[in-house]
Amino acid sequence: MNKKGDLTATRREYLAQPLRRVSLNSDPLTQFAMWMEEAIAVSSDDATSMTLATADKHGMPAARIVLLKHFDENGFAWYTDYRSQKGDDLAENPQAEILFYWYGLERQVRIQGRVEKLSQQQGKAYFNQRPLASRLSAAASCQSHPVADRETLEQAVKELEERYPDGDIPHPEQWGGYILKPVRFEFWQGREGRLHDRFQFNLTDKGWDVQRLQP
Ligand SMILES: Cc1cc2nc3c(=O)[nH]c(=O)nc-3n(C[C@H](O)[C@H](O)[C@H](O)COP(=O)(O)O)c2cc1C
Repeated sequence: MNKKGDLTATRREYLAQPLRRVSLNSDPLTQFAMWMEEAIAVSSDDATSMTLATADKHGMPAARIVLLKHFDENGFAWYTDYRSQKGDDLAENPQAEILFYWYGLERQVRIQGRVEKLSQQQGKAYFNQRPLASRLSAAASCQSHPVADRETLEQAVKELEERYPDGDIPHPEQWGGYILKPVRFEFWQGREGRLHDRFQFNLTDKGWDVQRLQP
């Protein structure tokens, strides 16, 4: 790379393995579950991290990484602070895309859908499962809002520790989960010479409709 950040000569081949129509599961959730299992086997640390893309009411997009915490026929769930930028975006425009990139497998999955809040009970149940330090940070922080300095945050954590010496931090009402209910999936498999395999599933009245997309 030169000093101007020219990355055009940075390239590699994507050779992992093909994704064939015959081996694609007709249920995208099952296909996703299979790929997630393989991704966890390759690199359990990062497999569940996903880019969450939202847009505000003006259509301005915003993307950030969050961790997928559970998925099933009800949707794909993550936890956060409802007062964050993503919370504001989702309140105005409850549609989003989540994206997984699994490096070692040369795979990408995109999932679009409508987003709903999980119940307070679900938020509380997961909050109470988290390690103490994570609960303290979540309770001390109003995510995505400005703060004067780090000391202010550390002081807020210290005050909580003093107030709840038993570590029983109350679940903040504004901290909880979202669930994305899929209407579209895309499974992307990197292939040699950039002739990649892509399959898109769209939800119709009759179920999932699948088509191959050009790379
Ligand atoms: C690996 C990784 C995992 C993260 N997981 C979460 C998460 O599960 N929930 C969350 O609110 N933020 C998570 N973050 C922080 C977000 O990327 C982001 O900074 C934060 O949610 C505020 O985003 P917003 O201002 O767009 O709402 C994670 C960041 C990284 C790099």
